[in-house]
Amino acid sequence: MASESALSRSETAPASGEAPAFDTSVAHVARVYNYWLGGKDNFAADRAAAEQAMAAFPGIALSARANRAFLRRAVTYLAGEAGIRQFLDIGTGIPSANNTHEVAQAVAPDARIVYVDNDPVVLAHARALLASTPEGATDYINADLRQTDQILAGAASTLDFTKPVAVMLMAILQHLSDDDDPEKVVGKLMAVVPSGSFLALSHPANDIHAAEMADMAKSLNRMMAEKVTFRSQSEVARLFTGLELIEPGMTNVPDWRPQTDEEANSLAALGGGVARKP
Ligand SMILES: C[S@@+](CC[C@H](N)C(=O)[O-])C[C@H]1O[C@@H](n2cnc3c(N)ncnc32)[C@H](O)[C@@H]1O
Repeated sequence: MASESALSRSETAPASGEAPAFDTSVAHVARVYNYWLGGKDNFAADRAAAEQAMAAFPGIALSARANRAFLRRAVTYLAGEAGIRQFLDIGTGIPSANNTHEVAQAVAPDARIVYVDNDPVVLAHARALLASTPEGATDYINADLRQTDQILAGAASTLDFTKPVAVMLMAILQHLSDDDDPEKVVGKLMAVVPSGSFLALSHPANDIHAAEMADMAKSLNRMMAEKVTFRSQSEVARLFTGLELIEPGMTNVPDWRPQTDEEANSLAALGGGVARKP
């Protein structure tokens, strides 16, 4: 149980008992993803969009679970072998099993985590994400990934940007269009963190199960508020430009250091990797 002193809370997090308003009539990705993961924080419009996507690509629920398993393995590596104590997790999602702070603080109780998402339902669940160990700290910032200056200014109250930080962009950059220039957004974030920092990223691929992924993208873009742009594995690899990918490089996520046969053999269609800033 966290001590009160370990809970820091951004000015944008909800006051106790106050629920932010949200529209349940249109599907939103945080809730659609929650449905694929078997969660209960979703509404009829989210379930309809999730089911139609599953009709286009039946592997999407397994793919979402493989992405969560990749997140757990990446954070375990970062907090363990890589010795990282600070995490900036942008596109957090509705709390699920193995949230970043739980995985990181199980390895390093003094780990400090800042979560960022722009979905009001994720904001409503922020309290679960703020349950830090007494030695560490967690915070939540309600912001859009494109507002990098706002994110970095808010994160600076919890993270020390003179020390290494793991920037996590797990299954979020597909919601930035080419016009939003994801490479530039990643570059801005990685420019402010010092040498020895890391980028951990996953991104739905349009060249794995290509036909089904294309059908699913069309379906999601018809039904979901946040639009998707799936990208090729070489486009995803470009997001790591200037960084040193650690072994095994950028892979379909089940191939990134799987710990069990089940993890290794999972169906998935996401490029993912972890890279160090030299
Ligand atoms: C598919 S979920 C991934 C959740 C988690 N990162 C994971 O990998 O399990 C994408 C999350 O990104 C958030 N998101 C999408 N676009 C965003 C944006 N422009 N700014 C901030 N968050 C965004 C959504 O609200 C959602 O919670």
